[in-house]
Amino acid sequence: MSQKMKILAFSAAVILLLALLLGLQALRGENELAVFVTGGAEGYLLPCGCRTSPAGGLSRRVTLIDDARRENPGRRVVPVELSPLFMDRGPAKDVINTAFGDFLKSENYLVSAGPRDLELGNKLKEYYKGEYHLAGMAGYRDDVVVELGGYRYLPFGKKGKLRLLFISETALLGKKLDDPLEVFRKKVREAPQDTYIVLGNLSTMKIQEMVKEKADLLAIVSVWGHMVTTLPQKADDTWVVFLGDRGRRYALLEIGYFDGRWEIWPKCEYIHRSLEGDAKVEERVRETMKKAEEINLSELEKSVVKPAGPSFNGSDHCGGCHAKEYDIWKKTGHGSALATLEIDHQQNNTECLPCHVTGFRGGGYPAMKESLSGVGCESCHGPGEGHPPERHAPAEEAAGACLKCHTKRDSPNFDREMYMKMIDHWSRN
Ligand code: HEC
Ligand code: HEC
Ligand code: HEC
Ligand code: HEC
Repeated sequence: MSQKMKILAFSAAVILLLALLLGLQALRGENELAVFVTGGAEGYLLPCGCRTSPAGGLSRRVTLIDDARRENPGRRVVPVELSPLFMDRGPAKDVINTAFGDFLKSENYLVSAGPRDLELGNKLKEYYKGEYHLAGMAGYRDDVVVELGGYRYLPFGKKGKLRLLFISETALLGKKLDDPLEVFRKKVREAPQDTYIVLGNLSTMKIQEMVKEKADLLAIVSVWGHMVTTLPQKADDTWVVFLGDRGRRYALLEIGYFDGRWEIWPKCEYIHRSLEGDAKVEERVRETMKKAEEINLSELEKSVVKPAGPSFNGSDHCGGCHAKEYDIWKKTGHGSALATLEIDHQQNNTECLPCHVTGFRGGGYPAMKESLSGVGCESCHGPGEGHPPERHAPAEEAAGACLKCHTKRDSPNFDREMYMKMIDHWSRN
């Protein structure tokens, strides 16, 4: 063979080999997956245009899911919603929760139940007509297996199994969920060769225990109170993300499986106000909110009663003589407690108002709306009619009023001494 022929044959062989490799590459099976996780929404459907952070909302979730699909057309995108899913307080909760459930169904979400939602009992099936996920509870699906890798139409190529495992903790009314660590161990024993992602309501303590298990645990995404992570954190070999922000935050876990190796690129971000939402979902949400508002307003009307004893004068009236106290009060959360509800469109929800305004159902709010909004002077000092010269509720009594509103649920970090200091308008130094 001449030198020329040899070179030609060699080049042909190289080209053939390359073509073969490229062909095999095209035959690769599904290698990529994106798990899109949101949670803790408590039925808040809509971001608003007011005060601080009008973020989150159902319609923007659709935009984000579509983006994740568009970025890599071959990739499977799995949306997951974590508990608490539904609103448990408010006369319009059925209307709102049904809309939330319908949304989850229409977007093919994997839906994780947790202690807060389980307390809703039989209502759950009414709100969401699909399957709930939760490991260790009879009647719930505990995991979803996603197989990645391999070659299409060909028997060879390594495949890997990723288990999305739904685990939550804490006791619910009288009933305890199985210990999350035990549930996790059991799962790993059953399929030790698989890889895991854990999703649910888990405390930092449980997460620490879990990552110490000798398992291939890629990530844990949890809703635990109001805890949030701005950047995913790595604990041992596991990425950890907290999403407790009333549904205003999402985690995107991009996962690849190539030649027997798992890779994960986690991301966690605020669902920002500048993001445009899906128009159809937005319209549906608007209709639901309108219906809910009608129900709220009709309940609010019914809440108006005449005061049984002395009547309320309003915080502005007190401020006329107690300017210093008034100025301090106005700057605390008590002064703006009604505005806080506006952020989530709950300012007319009659199950929030007893703690966020003054004298609700006792002859106060919604009379003199402005002056009795927020946790006003008379929330603690009692109605002002006759004062002065009548003396006001003694300080001791006022100080005892805190726990009426600062309950375990609504103020889990309440600490008497620290909280008293934070609202101090009586020590004059
Ligand atoms: C017309 C002026 C005036 C108005 C309005 C007023 N106060 Fe007073 N308040 C006084 C005076 C005067 C005292 C007695 C001050 C002192 O002895 O140091 C007082 C005392 C108090 C005290 C101390 C306990 C007591 O009774 O001596 C509290 C608490 C108090 N006021 C709360 C309120 C609240 C709450 C309101 C609104 C509902 C209010 N005040 C409206 C003038 C007023
Ligand atoms: C009528 C209900 C009610 C009562 C009574 C009440 N609070 Fe509050 N408190 C609230 C609400 C609602 C908030 C949240 C306000 C917000 O951020 O919008 C709050 C917030 C606070 C905060 C955070 C303030 C801030 O500036 O962020 C402190 C501290 C506090 N309360 C202390 C107390 C203490 C101490 C007492 C008893 C002397 C008390 N509260 C009684 C309803 C109440
Ligand atoms: C039993 C009294 C109570 C009820 C009912 C209540 N709240 Fe509150 N809320 C509080 C207290 C107390 C705080 C302050 C907690 C703290 O700072 O420790 C608070 C704080 C808040 C905050 C600010 C802190 C946060 O959690 O983000 C929001 C928002 C809020 N409440 C919304 C609501 C809504 C919406 C409802 C009705 C669905 C509601 N609350 C019903 C007592 C209550
Ligand atoms: C969250 C409950 C709460 C609210 C709201 C509140 N106070 Fe008080 N206030 C107290 C407590 C508790 C004390 C007494 C603290 C102590 O001395 O131990 C006090 C003390 C005072 C005192 C001094 C009483 C004395 O005997 O020296 C005055 C005056 C007063 N408040 C006026 C007001 C006014 C005016 C407003 C509204 C602008 C207001 N307070 C709102 C809880 C409250």
